[in-house]
Amino acid sequence: MELKIEGVSKIFINNHNEHIVLQEVSFTVHEGQFVTLLGPSGCGKTTLLTIIAGFQAVSGGQVLLNGLTVTRPGPDRGFVFQNYALFPWMTVRDNILFPMKRSKTPAREREQHLQELLSIAQLEGKEKLYPHQLSGGMKQRIAFIRALAGRPEVLLMDEPLGAVDFQMRQMLQEELEALWLKDKTTVVMVTHDVDEAIYLSDRVIVMSAREGEILEDMPVKLPRPRDRKDPVYVKSKEHLMDALKVAINKQPDSEAERRLRLA
Ligand SMILES: Nc1ncnc2c1ncn2[C@@H]1O[C@H](COP(=O)(O)OP(=O)(O)O)[C@@H](O)[C@H]1O
Ligand SMILES: [Mg+2]
Repeated sequence: MELKIEGVSKIFINNHNEHIVLQEVSFTVHEGQFVTLLGPSGCGKTTLLTIIAGFQAVSGGQVLLNGLTVTRPGPDRGFVFQNYALFPWMTVRDNILFPMKRSKTPAREREQHLQELLSIAQLEGKEKLYPHQLSGGMKQRIAFIRALAGRPEVLLMDEPLGAVDFQMRQMLQEELEALWLKDKTTVVMVTHDVDEAIYLSDRVIVMSAREGEILEDMPVKLPRPRDRKDPVYVKSKEHLMDALKVAINKQPDSEAERRLRLA
């Protein structure tokens, strides 16, 4: 697996004004890496992730997965949406089977894979329940294993813990890491939370509010599971907080964009 973001640009036209959200953004993600895109709200994180997913087109550049240009969504890319986005009208079982059908997993393998995934997420026996019958933590786990169900080469997660409060969030980060360690699928996750980025990632890419410019590409080499009180952890966090401050202050500078931001 190799995911290459090559000079990707994205321009939206709003009321005849060009809004450059991403300007020639480039980086490469290697097999098994957990990479986080960290940046202030509105800097283009979701836009970039949905481009990698193939949900929308680039304005320039390209995304290459194993050397092939991404032009549309595919089962080789799993996606975890903000706020889980499980299908509310489907049981846990059907939610998880859905991507397997899409990825054309043979019917005889589906049941076994379903049971494996439920066991990884410690959700055995919950398959007949509907999303509204589950706690936030369970929904998060299901969203994660559902995204893995189609055996994607890369898992894309857009603020997967964005909907939960602080205490719960730390617990879920630990669960998410434990789940991820079981199969180490390549991950690109988006967050605006510095602590979450350090806790989960092998590498943190900081994007600025101006055209998604990459300000920092920082490896995190701490052993897992991470100790949030470790001095190196604390130091890395401070370093990223500073980078994020710079990222926030780098506002788009064209007049048209300034007007757009005020709109
Ligand atoms: N479909 C769209 N049409 C016009 N502007 C958009 C569209 N999608 C996103 N934007 C704008 O692009 C910028 C980046 O958005 P987004 O990628 O959602 O940021 P983030 O996920 O980092 O908060 C924002 O200014 C947003 O308003
Ligand atoms: Mg977003």
